[in-house]
This record gives sequence, structure tokens and C-alpha cells, in this order.
Amino acid sequence: MKHLIAPSILTADFANLQKEIMMLNKSAADWIHLDIMDGVYVPNISFGFPVLESVKKIAEKPLDVHLMIANVEHYLKRFKDAGADILTVHYEACTHLQRTVTEIRLLGMKAGVALNPHTPVTLLKNIFPYIDMVLIMTVNPGYGGQHFIEESWNKIPELRKMIDESKYNILIQVDGGVDLKNARLLVDAGVDVLVVGNTVFSSDNPAETILRLKKLED
Ligand code: DX5
Ligand code: ZN
Repeated sequence: MKHLIAPSILTADFANLQKEIMMLNKSAADWIHLDIMDGVYVPNISFGFPVLESVKKIAEKPLDVHLMIANVEHYLKRFKDAGADILTVHYEACTHLQRTVTEIRLLGMKAGVALNPHTPVTLLKNIFPYIDMVLIMTVNPGYGGQHFIEESWNKIPELRKMIDESKYNILIQVDGGVDLKNARLLVDAGVDVLVVGNTVFSSDNPAETILRLKKLED
């Protein structure tokens, strides 16, 4: 499968969010990635429902919502109503993960499970029947613009093999420290979806950077 690009708006210009979303609409981006942080599960607070609802009004691409919050199970329908198309929850934040991802699917969204850098991919085997995507965090969640954790390279082929040997069609997404240099290597290692924040929004020409990531030009 051709890889997908999901720019994370965490490092976008929030004073000009409409302009940023319209740029993404016209760009080669496949999805729009939104990072929701609550200051409890991660040591940072980002944005919530009002921003998501506003983005939904103008976005022409699927909204890929990454929840870094405690008590996710209380908010699943609210995220659906606010416009999420794909909803990813953290393995470490869900005591009853099978129930949570099943509910996400019943609400009509794709269900993703994210793993922190220290969490082994092997823990996911029994959840495969219930999910559409695995998000491998390649930084500790909470901030944009961090360095890619090198140990993550081992997890990608290991997860790729687990998925390929299963009968399930599950996407592998990588999030954190993705740039023009490691993008091709990540796709070669088996990644389907690249989340890219800082590399896109701190570049002089974000739309061109997205296109380069799509074409895997460094
Ligand atoms: C980190 C977020 C990421 C972040 C990626 O907790 O989940 O989506 O915005 O940003 P970069 O690409 O700047 O590492
Ligand atoms: Zn994210």
C-alpha cells in the first residue's frame, strides 16, 4: 500500500488555524492528525472539542484523533460527535481496552491503539481482531518537535511481521520525530501512516514539505 501522510496540527499557527486547514485541504496530506492532551495522562495540555468541531467544519480530509487523556471511555461519543473519523487511544491509558476499541467501532469510527516507546508490540496480539490501526509512538507523548527514539526501529518490523502473519488488515502509524530523512526508511520498514508535525509546520513551505514526504524525497 502507498503510505499516507497525516500532518499533526499541534505545531500549526493556532491564530491562523483556518488558513492552516485550508493549506492541508489543498496539499498532498491524506489525513489531519489532532493531538488531544489533558495534562493528566501527559504533562501538557493542547486543545479539545471546540477546536475539533471548528476544524471539522472546514476540513476536507479524515480527522485522525490521537487521545492522550485519562478516562477516555467517558468521551468516545463526544469525539464522534465532534468529528473524529479515526480515534486512537493509548494502550497504557485503557484498563478495558477491548471494550473501548469495540465501542469506538460501534460508534462508526476506525479504532487505533497507541503504544508508548517502552510498551512492547507483542502485547497487542489479542486485540488485533478489534482494531484498524496501531500507532507506534517514537517519542514520549506530550510535545511536538522531539527527537525520534532510535529503539523504535526494532518495533516496526516486529509489528509488521505480526500483522502480516495474522488475517487482519491493520495499519501501522508512526508518530514523533518524523522528518524528511527518516520517512523513507520508516516506510521501507513497514509503516503505512506517517504523522508529521514540526517538520511540516516549521518548514518554509509546508505544502511542499508534505508533497516531499508523500514522494519520499529527502
Ligand atoms: C506527540 C504527538 C505528535 C506530535 C508529533 O505527543 O502525538 O503527534 O505532534 O510532532 P513532531 O512531528 O513534531 O514530533
Ligand atoms: Zn499524535
